[in-house]
Amino acid sequence: MSLRFPALIASALVFSGQALAKCRNTPGSAGWPDEASWRALNTTVGGRLVPVVPLPEYCKTLPGGECTDDQWTSGLFRSQIPGAIDQDNWAQGYDLSPPSLCFRNSSSCGQGDLPFYAVEVETVADVQAAVKFASTHNLRLAVKSSGHDYLGRSTAPNSLLIHMAKVTNVDFTDNFLVDGKNLGSAVTVGPGVHLQDIYMQTKARGKIAIGGTAATVCAAGGYLQGAGHSALSPLLGLSADNVLEFQIVVADGTLLKANNAENADLFYALRGGGAGSWGVIVSATLSTFPTFNATVSLIQIQAPTNAAAAAIARVNAKHIFDFDVVRGGQYFYLRRQLNSSASLFQFETILPKITLDEGRDIIAPSLQDMLAVPGVSLVSEEMEEMLVNDVLYNADDNAGGNGVMGSRLIPAASYEGLEGPATVEKVYRELLDAGAPEILGHLVAGGQVSANANISSAITPAWRTAKTHLIVPAGWDDSASLDDIKQIRGAFQHTFLPILEQLSGPDAGAYSNEADTLEPNFQTTFFGPNYAKLTAIKKKYDAEDLFIVATGVGSERWDQWGMCTI
Ligand SMILES: Cc1cc2nc3c(=O)[nH]c(=O)nc-3n(C[C@H](O)[C@H](O)[C@H](O)COP(=O)(O)OP(=O)(O)OC[C@H]3O[C@@H](n4cnc5c(N)ncnc54)[C@H](O)[C@@H]3O)c2cc1C
Ligand SMILES: *[C@@H]1O[C@H](CO)[C@@H](O)[C@H](O)[C@H]1NC(C)=O
Ligand SMILES: *[C@@H]1O[C@H](CO)[C@@H](O)[C@H](O)[C@H]1NC(C)=O
Ligand SMILES: *[C@@H]1O[C@H](CO)[C@@H](O)[C@H](O)[C@H]1NC(C)=O
Ligand SMILES: *[C@@H]1O[C@H](CO)[C@@H](O)[C@H](O)[C@H]1NC(C)=O
Ligand SMILES: *[C@@H]1O[C@H](CO)[C@@H](O)[C@H](O)[C@H]1NC(C)=O
Repeated sequence: MSLRFPALIASALVFSGQALAKCRNTPGSAGWPDEASWRALNTTVGGRLVPVVPLPEYCKTLPGGECTDDQWTSGLFRSQIPGAIDQDNWAQGYDLSPPSLCFRNSSSCGQGDLPFYAVEVETVADVQAAVKFASTHNLRLAVKSSGHDYLGRSTAPNSLLIHMAKVTNVDFTDNFLVDGKNLGSAVTVGPGVHLQDIYMQTKARGKIAIGGTAATVCAAGGYLQGAGHSALSPLLGLSADNVLEFQIVVADGTLLKANNAENADLFYALRGGGAGSWGVIVSATLSTFPTFNATVSLIQIQAPTNAAAAAIARVNAKHIFDFDVVRGGQYFYLRRQLNSSASLFQFETILPKITLDEGRDIIAPSLQDMLAVPGVSLVSEEMEEMLVNDVLYNADDNAGGNGVMGSRLIPAASYEGLEGPATVEKVYRELLDAGAPEILGHLVAGGQVSANANISSAITPAWRTAKTHLIVPAGWDDSASLDDIKQIRGAFQHTFLPILEQLSGPDAGAYSNEADTLEPNFQTTFFGPNYAKLTAIKKKYDAEDLFIVATGVGSERWDQWGMCTI
């Protein structure tokens, strides 16, 4: 963020004679609530107001005085702790002056980018009280379900956090009614419900709901608001295409239903209009389907050089339409190996509703072609037919560490002809040569995602013409210098994006949940032609900008902390 905002600050100075910045209250400022006010809030929320303790400090309070490695790296563990998020860098306050760092081994810690107090929500009334308190006292509000966010949007310094992890209701029905119409079999989940819980509970009922391959991501948190991609999306659409209703507390504290009949504009925004900009979701209702088996292929191939890795990428691109016969999905992840010119390419292909033998026939042509690339070697190959709930299920997510990412949705047209795969090869080669540590490919579009283009939602049209979603992540360890960190954070815009654009085209869209906070034109990159409509909906439901997150609708009016208007 530090690279994007200097330009914005400069323009704020130009206008400083015309408009005064409006700032939210911080500890010590005149309008910060006094002790009695906080105590009153605490009473209203049943004693569930807690100070936010940074994870490293929290660990010291545990038996033995520290977190085990298993705890430290567990998404499940972190999701329950108000002062923990998955990616430590978003808590570090790198952009604060001075920076307020807090590492696992720090002897003393600042609060960094973490909130001040949190409400550990158990009821809708808790949410309403916290929202009204923040609004009355002009506080920065932050909302978190799992703390998974790759853009750091579930934390903010000096904020009041609404932590939804304890809202874990799961309710099934065979007849979900909207405006008297029966929309069929559905599951309603609270924002503290993890995807892994949805897969296990639907399994017990012979059903499945559309979600990502992740353990602790929360459907009724940021996932659906972004769009929600899944290996099942080519078959059944994006997760947000399959949501029937939200219940949400908006900025004035009222609890609203949003569906096709009631508050339909808000329903439009909540499906793809970006996480964290609309209110506090207290439940989401997803369609469920009779469950089924899928054949899963897992292939790992080692490439000795960047050239070989790029050649494998070309072959995969040439065969990317092979899976369309069954509307399959695929994760194709390339990772460089440490201190070596080699990299490992991993392909997980999910082929719904077919047997092992049928699956083998679909995979065989691309596997043969990949193994014909000179120098490559097959590390492992497995294939299994499984219940799709078990395919999507993960036991935990790996958390901890520092990372950022940038991404683009790659149009299906970019893969066509001979030129498509050749461009893929060139782009992979150049990305690797430029130092990209990983290139994460997701075949989670096309098929039903394209067929759902007529659904009226805020999902950017770029999703409807896309074939894949490509991410270039980058990370660092705690010993990195602030200058190095700044360089790594800027690398997607400066170095990787110009390369990727040879494949995506210059005006491609990106998936707002797995993306770069430094996108200079996030409005069009994430929301395409929908931004003006989203801005109007924001004004209607949140005129005072209580819900502001980095790269969210309305965030252009605020500094990077959402603390002062610019
Ligand atoms: C391991 C891993 C795997 C992933 N896999 C996938 C995948 O397969 N497909 C996919 O599409 N995405 C995937 N994602 C990205 C995921 O969709 C986003 O990280 C998403 O924002 C997580 O939402 P959350 O509520 O769990 O996280 P949080 O960090 O708690 O919140 C994320 C955002 O949502 C807002 N928010 C959270 N709860 C609420 C609420 N109750 N009401 C309103 N706003 C809220 C927050 O303010 C923040 O802006 C993955 C992420 C991780 C870390
Ligand atoms: C809120 O009240 C509970 C119960 O009385 C108490 O344990 C907690 O410390 C209070 N929170 C704050 C921030 O004082
Ligand atoms: C890679 O090289 C660096 C510096 O030469 C060294 O410190 C590190 O241990 C090496 N890592 C591995 C995995 O070999
Ligand atoms: C689904 O796959 C399992 C193996 O994991 C198998 O036992 C079962 O018979 C399959 N079900 C159907 C309907 O084919
Ligand atoms: C979209 O089009 C399909 C047919 O192509 C139709 O079945 C569906 O009802 C349409 N959906 C909407 C929201 O218009
Ligand atoms: C703390 O741990 C990090 C790695 O997580 C390491 O780079 C750093 O040197 C350590 N600092 C101290 C003081 O031990």
